[in-house]
Amino acid sequence: MWENNGLAKRLGTQYPLIQAPMAGSTTPELAAASTNAGGLGSLGAATMTPEQLRLDCQAVRARTNGSYNINFFVHEEPPLDPAKDQAMRQLLAPMYEAVGLESVPEARVPFPSFGDAHLQVLLSERPSVVSFHFGLPDDEALQALRSYGAVLLCSATNVAEAKVLEARGIDAVIAQGFEAGGHRGTFAEPYERGQVGTMALVPQIVDAINVPVIAAGGIADGRGIAAALALGAQGVQIGTAFLRCPESATHAVYRDALANASDDGTRVTSGFSGRPARGIENRFIREMQGREDQFPAFPIPNSLTGPLRAASAKHGTPDYISLWSGQAGAMSREMPAADLIATLIRETDAVLKRLAG
Ligand SMILES: Cc1cc2nc3c(=O)[nH]c(=O)nc-3n(C[C@H](O)[C@H](O)[C@H](O)COP(=O)(O)O)c2cc1C
Repeated sequence: MWENNGLAKRLGTQYPLIQAPMAGSTTPELAAASTNAGGLGSLGAATMTPEQLRLDCQAVRARTNGSYNINFFVHEEPPLDPAKDQAMRQLLAPMYEAVGLESVPEARVPFPSFGDAHLQVLLSERPSVVSFHFGLPDDEALQALRSYGAVLLCSATNVAEAKVLEARGIDAVIAQGFEAGGHRGTFAEPYERGQVGTMALVPQIVDAINVPVIAAGGIADGRGIAAALALGAQGVQIGTAFLRCPESATHAVYRDALANASDDGTRVTSGFSGRPARGIENRFIREMQGREDQFPAFPIPNSLTGPLRAASAKHGTPDYISLWSGQAGAMSREMPAADLIATLIRETDAVLKRLAG
């Protein structure tokens, strides 16, 4: 029912099962292992320099001849706001002290939105799938990607966003439910309009558009995949469940937090980056709650929280790390990506068979 379905054929995979792009957590090893196991491996490239992007594309290609996906953030260049930069630096000063760091650095824009330099790398490395978060780049860039045959995907967090993506000619829409780990893909503000759960979001987007829908958010085993298919999705994108694979770049402290996760342990915060993202609640999230008016625009806060996160990990404490996780983090399993994909396929087939009676 799902093996080699229309979406899988389009993606160039055996199964329509996407290992989610996760900036900072995905690696060429993870992406290649996921692809070689019959899914679609992805790299979150939002924070990569063009040079790094090229090296990582080549590192994936050295490990697999199959399809892979490269993902970018498409966001507005942040307005300069020295008052907010200063306010956030003050908020962070005691946390820096707690992990033995001297002073909070000056705020800066740590990485650009998707742009021409990234596009040029894609045009030469030619990943078969390119996906976007926070909306789409301009038509010229999309056309350039289509001209070498790239399949284009983008996240939507409500029906209106899905319709915008369809009108822009996207090949498939990722319906990202509120359960999802990491950044909300919401691009039509206010953010509060993108808080629909996967169960309600997927069928409504399926009914509203004519391109395939990929369900994302809170899916961690074959029951979740079968449910997504039942809701009308043609495929799934799974993130958190891959974070404990040995091929992921997940720090040991973060792995421990996932191993001890619970169903109600995540919160949405914009404290780390300036945009709402779901992670396991920790001291940082608690202390930043209600202070949103003091955060500079995305992605500037990353330049202020980056050293703090790194020092927190080095100290072996989860207090100030961004522990991105979906609401099904407690269902994540520690196993190699190839085993995880084989397990997910086996479980899904078993559920589908049971339901078929
Ligand atoms: C650690 C982490 C990092 C993420 N980074 C990205 C990213 O760089 N680009 C992106 O499109 N989505 C990113 N996401 C969101 C995923 O694409 C996907 O929507 C989400 O993982 C699905 O929910 P799940 O985590 O419950 O499986 C990230 C998710 C996690 C958990």
